[in-house]
Amino acid sequence: MTRVLSCIQPTGDVHLGNYLGALRNWVSGQDKADVFHGIVDLHALTVTEKSDIIGANTLQLAAMLFAVGLNPDVATVFVQSHIAEHSQLGWIMECTVSFGELSRMTQFKDKSAKREAEFVSAGLFTYPALQAADILLYDANEVPVGDDQRQHIEITRDIAIRFNHRFGDTFVIPKAVTPTSGARVMDLQNPTAKMSKSVDDDSGVIYLLDDPSKIEKKFKRAVTDSETDVVFDRERKPGVANLLEILSAATNTTPQKTAENYTRYGDLKSASAEAVIAMLAPIQKRYHDLLSDRAELMRLIHKGNERAQAVASVTLARAQKSIGFLSSK
Ligand code: TRP
Repeated sequence: MTRVLSCIQPTGDVHLGNYLGALRNWVSGQDKADVFHGIVDLHALTVTEKSDIIGANTLQLAAMLFAVGLNPDVATVFVQSHIAEHSQLGWIMECTVSFGELSRMTQFKDKSAKREAEFVSAGLFTYPALQAADILLYDANEVPVGDDQRQHIEITRDIAIRFNHRFGDTFVIPKAVTPTSGARVMDLQNPTAKMSKSVDDDSGVIYLLDDPSKIEKKFKRAVTDSETDVVFDRERKPGVANLLEILSAATNTTPQKTAENYTRYGDLKSASAEAVIAMLAPIQKRYHDLLSDRAELMRLIHKGNERAQAVASVTLARAQKSIGFLSSK
């Protein structure tokens, strides 16, 4: 069976764009492939300097991944820092990638420029080496990523090919795949920009844990336009199109069909709010149930960790053997 790996950083709250655009597909994908989902807290450390944040975010994100429907009996959900092999192979990857290659990564250039007045860790620079370790440890065939991550998969392939060439065939060469496209959810206040947690004003962002009144309010204030007809036209009417996209995703139909049922923006907004509230209610309930039983949540995490480690330890040992490190045994 094809092994698929996708990872998510425990930074910030999960929003509707994450859910309808990606997480929902993770759930439907879990029965079609052997899926591994890492919560990559070591990567979050590249931009975290305060204590007690990463751990709490990791636990909450794990609860959310199970709450949206990842089945711990099927999907392998693991915490990156719990599996020491990531750090161990990460170093080997750092020695297999060049300074020049890392210097060309656009994400590093962007992120370090944005942090101009802040601490820019060496980890932010070597981040792709750790990501390569994440991927290669699991012999992943496919890594579904958006455009912003393609360069990281390319460099992972280059590293794997170089390693195999230097030390003998060791790693499966992964490929980037375009994720099954979910809904494209835009910011309700700025419907030409993707819904994102990294905005200053998040009044156009629906978080999965928002309560019904908050969701209603955000939809009520959603930006539309000065016309009045409800049609699905992303170019001309991005605000209305976004509402139609969200409502149709929440009710499993198409934006075009949904448009036929509405003549007024106000009705479209309240219907969207209602559908999203109904869609999120069972997720929120499962989330809170999971978080209120920490022992059970930790049991689920350990279960994933165990499966992940069983694979990772074999791959790391294979890499160490290929290099020809002196065996400790
Ligand atoms: N860099 C990815 C992001 O920012 C997160 C990530 C870390 C990742 N390791 C990975 C994604 C391995 C896919 C595979 O979204």
